[in-house]
Amino acid sequence: MSAYKGFASRAIHLAYNPLENEGSLTPPLHLTSTFVFETAEAGGEMFAGERAGHIYSRISNPTLDLLERRIADLEGAEAGLAFSSGMGAITATLWTLVAPGDEIIVDETLYGCTFAYMRHGLTKFGIKITHVDLTDPENLRTFISDKTRVVYFETPANPNMRLVDISHVSEIAHEAGATVIVDNTYATPYLTRPIELGADLVLHSATKYLGGHGDVVAGLVAGRADQIQEIRLVGMKDMTGAVMAPFSAMLILRGLKTLSLRMDRHCASAQKVAEWLEDHPAVSKVHFPGLESFEQHELANRQMSQPGGMIAFELKGGLEAGISMMNGLKMIQRAVSLGDAETLIQHPASMTHSTYTPEERAAHGISDGLVRLSVGLEDLDDILEDMAQAMPQVPVAAAA
Ligand SMILES: Cc1ncc(COP(=O)(O)O)c(C=O)c1O
Repeated sequence: MSAYKGFASRAIHLAYNPLENEGSLTPPLHLTSTFVFETAEAGGEMFAGERAGHIYSRISNPTLDLLERRIADLEGAEAGLAFSSGMGAITATLWTLVAPGDEIIVDETLYGCTFAYMRHGLTKFGIKITHVDLTDPENLRTFISDKTRVVYFETPANPNMRLVDISHVSEIAHEAGATVIVDNTYATPYLTRPIELGADLVLHSATKYLGGHGDVVAGLVAGRADQIQEIRLVGMKDMTGAVMAPFSAMLILRGLKTLSLRMDRHCASAQKVAEWLEDHPAVSKVHFPGLESFEQHELANRQMSQPGGMIAFELKGGLEAGISMMNGLKMIQRAVSLGDAETLIQHPASMTHSTYTPEERAAHGISDGLVRLSVGLEDLDDILEDMAQAMPQVPVAAAA
């Protein structure tokens, strides 16, 4: 049995022995584009897949290899693959799996650029995209067919926090022979492990919680070894070239070391902020899996070990009130992205989800007044104080 079983220990130690690396506590950064073959024959054998080893850094690199092993382990998968961005991971994976005439079933709500890639990118090449409300997994039975190659969703979804029951959807998708892909960016493997719940592939914008410090753009995929190898050799090597840079891999490896610690703090603070928002008279709706009022609270308890660090909320004064509140913030930063040490706030309809038309946003459950908050690692009192001073000042009701 390994000397370390726990999530944090594996995120820190897995697959690396300093004594095999000159005693270097931190894994070396392999800044090399290409690798030397011992003989010409050995090189040929590597290209033929008959001999192990690195050939060229668009295919593999030892620094990326360590990160890929770690994400695979943390997700409970056989293998992992590192990309230059979350969108690189998504596009390379889907280019590998689908062909003209195939269908992808996706949930109603997706991150804006994923939506645009599907709606305007893949459809150009004869791939059908069907949106199904997967918050009721049984809806999938109505739409799935032998043309459905992939069922794809985010849980919690960006930006409105809807959850999808991974086990239930995977069961129905597998009966029809479809591959289930879960974007686990919001939850991270610390809160939800989709593969253990029946999904086939899990992907991440590692730019977010996995990196955790707002200093790198990166993506990861984990799944079965044969599927990952196919995505490596087709989607990444030949179709997108969206390989992660070794320096980015080092930053993500560093981020993973503190993932559990950071997530505990993000989740605890977000719970308090969500409760505070729910009680605030200027707020009309809070979407947060840790609230009892959250429609899918039971599923959140079943599928997530903690509710996460993301909150979506709406003010009674709608969009105008939301914009004015965001402009009044002093410590909390107005910025897209999420999962950083800094608390970040943004307006999905005009920012991350402006790739949807207003009609599409209405149809896909992204209201114009929705504000997205990524609760950071600052002191909770400072976060609440900043929110409080920026909130619309609601007149106290006159005594009866
Ligand atoms: C849920 C989700 N998936 C994928 C992406 C794309 O990732 P990246 O920005 O690293 O390309 C994002 C980015 O915001 C995201 O929020």
